[in-house]
Amino acid sequence: MADYFKMSSEERQSELEQLRKVYQEYQSKQLQLDMSRGKPCTQQLDLSMDMLNPIDYHTETGFDSRNYGVLEGLPETRRFFAELLDVQPEEIIVGGNSSLQMMYYLIDLGCRRGFVDSPRPWSQEETVKFICPVPGYDRHFRVTEYFGFELIRVDMTENGPDMDAVEELVQDPSVKGIWCVPLYSNPDGYVYSDETVRRLAAMKTAAPDFKIIWDDAYCVHHLTDEPQHTLNILQECRKAGNELRPLIQCSTSKITFPGAGVSAVAADEKNVTYILKNMMPMLISYDKMNQLRHVRYLKNKQGVLEHMKKHRAILQPKFELVKETLQRRLTPCGKVAWWTDPKGGYFISLYVEDGCAKRVVELCKQAGVVLTAAGAAYPKEYDPNDHHIRIAPSYPTLEELETASELLTVCVRIAVLEKLMQ
Ligand SMILES: Cc1ncc(COP(=O)(O)O)c(C=O)c1O
Repeated sequence: MADYFKMSSEERQSELEQLRKVYQEYQSKQLQLDMSRGKPCTQQLDLSMDMLNPIDYHTETGFDSRNYGVLEGLPETRRFFAELLDVQPEEIIVGGNSSLQMMYYLIDLGCRRGFVDSPRPWSQEETVKFICPVPGYDRHFRVTEYFGFELIRVDMTENGPDMDAVEELVQDPSVKGIWCVPLYSNPDGYVYSDETVRRLAAMKTAAPDFKIIWDDAYCVHHLTDEPQHTLNILQECRKAGNELRPLIQCSTSKITFPGAGVSAVAADEKNVTYILKNMMPMLISYDKMNQLRHVRYLKNKQGVLEHMKKHRAILQPKFELVKETLQRRLTPCGKVAWWTDPKGGYFISLYVEDGCAKRVVELCKQAGVVLTAAGAAYPKEYDPNDHHIRIAPSYPTLEELETASELLTVCVRIAVLEKLMQ
């Protein structure tokens, strides 16, 4: 193998022919592998099955959690999430089985009613704009797109969103918020620096009701011996007099069971009171039996961190395998691609030569390996450089992942050679 960018056209032709033969061999294997969504694998799901053993559903105060009531969440569950997110129990609302649903609810609330600090509901504004750091979590973007907002792209850097761009954008009063995944961002695995957090907290926004949706989905999902942390956004906002700005999210989806976990919002008490008042017409209580099961099983932050070590033991070798394969197969070909090296979370970003991502995903698909659609991590699924591919190593077995990663590298090499030979 040699640098594709330095090869003669004859050399490229011969390399391509060889790779096409390898590719055909993969095709003949009729693979059916999926690296598309960040789902825990069966072994990970098995880790939490003991949580479903029968328990006494009376809370620490003797309240029967099997019945209606306590919309804000059981006291022990509020305490549990408060410790996890480093806030006070009164600053927590324990939600249902999905933080995404909670985020949707909050955006909906902004539209219908506005927030405590809104001059009017967002739906009465001529335009509502939302900042989307890219690449980012596709489902965030879909929520704000669904409500008809204009999605403003800002580039992600290793330290978080490009803050110079963010600070300029928030001079516009129609810019009402920003999506953030501060720790082990989806999909790059980046961690917001202290400076980024401080600037987000302190920046002057033209909209008085600007909101930071702080999605701490991966707050305990470490993959190395160097657990990363971010500054506490609520504290930093409070220091700057902007305590109503952050709406913090998390859930146990990737701690226990996706779709059957418990979510939580953390925010200033004024926001908590206002959100609860607006939730009241919608429901009497979330699933408190599940709240209690979770607290009894995981106990506290220390318990969660111990549990997450078991996840890490399953996940880390998968991440290592993907990175090692990319390194071994792609580095000798020159700058055909680069990839991120996350210290936690669920994803690796693979950046291929501009104009090749769609082709790579298509080639993988035709050989039986499903990847997230190219461009999926961008608003309206449009990656202007057509270079980004999100890799989710968690779900396949190590053996499947090995095959899928090898095939992926073959597809990257074919796509780049095809481009260079055009
Ligand atoms: C950043 C981020 N937020 C939220 C979610 C979904 O969380 P939940 O299951 O709590 O709705 C995911 C799932 O992949 C995610 O990556």
